Amino acid sequence: LVTVGDLSDAAIAALLRRASEHADGLLASDGKTLASGAAGEGGSRLGTKPLAGRSVVLLFFEDSTRTRASFDLAAARLGAHVVNLDVDRSSVSKGESLADTLLTLDAMRPDAVVMRHRWSGAARFASRHLRAAFVNAGAGTRSHPTQALLDALTIRRVAAPRLDMTLDSDTQPFAGLRVAIVGDIRRSRVARSNIALLTRLGAELTLIGPPAFLPQRFGLLGVRVAHSLEDGLRPAPQVVYALRVQREREPTPGAPSVEAYAERFCITEAALDRWCPEALVMHPGPVNRGVDVSVEVLTGPRSLVLDQVAHGVAMRMAILESLVG
Ligand code: NCD
Repeated sequence: LVTVGDLSDAAIAALLRRASEHADGLLASDGKTLASGAAGEGGSRLGTKPLAGRSVVLLFFEDSTRTRASFDLAAARLGAHVVNLDVDRSSVSKGESLADTLLTLDAMRPDAVVMRHRWSGAARFASRHLRAAFVNAGAGTRSHPTQALLDALTIRRVAAPRLDMTLDSDTQPFAGLRVAIVGDIRRSRVARSNIALLTRLGAELTLIGPPAFLPQRFGLLGVRVAHSLEDGLRPAPQVVYALRVQREREPTPGAPSVEAYAERFCITEAALDRWCPEALVMHPGPVNRGVDVSVEVLTGPRSLVLDQVAHGVAMRMAILESLVG
């Protein structure tokens, strides 16, 4: 799995269905707490370990909290053996190339390799070098397909019922859903994968950000482009998806200061009350509190941020199972 584009519509539908069963099994009735062994509809399947005897290597060349822990937990819950390679203490620090690192690990015959890397082409490159199944856990600024899939799962399972929407038809399942993505879109792999997946599912997308973070060419992707919250949040979206300013990446010419960005684009209660009072708020994390999203919104009832994290485990279980099971 390198990009969302590698998946057929039927494969996406199957992943959403299977992940939903895992989420039923994993999530207690409050929908937030991970309860081991809680019996939801999919609970009966929890006793089985479909990946018993299989091994999964996690290879993270970039920092991660959510994605890494969630793949680790997902693989462990399926019964797989997980090897978490500490890249900083591996032969990468002795100058070993990416190709040699991949070939070396692959020679040990793992069943799957999950990799994150700062080079946008790294995921495609790895998938071509490995005989093991490959999962892209974030490639440069280009793609992060498992994040988009877990976001779609969260929208379907948590946002839709709260918005009184049914988002499960087979063709165009997200028709009628308006999503606004706000922030550093130019450097965001999460935005690229979400644009690809959500438009395919039939959602209507508006991208919002200062011109330096959101070049006009994004309009070519069949989405609306707006350079202020005021323009972008009308008509009101049902979901506002905020992104982090990617300060660790190549600097963006003409980018606003953090203060100037927050002033105009931070998702606050006041902005939501004014333009889209019903909207729910998502963010892939990590959040810059008070810059991307205000503390009140992040910790308030509109926030689905921890629901996204919880659904990440269920989605990654479904993905690993489909590739290795
Ligand atoms: C994101 C990432 O690393 O791509 N986080 C994540 O995977 N949940 C987004 C970010 O770093 O801003």
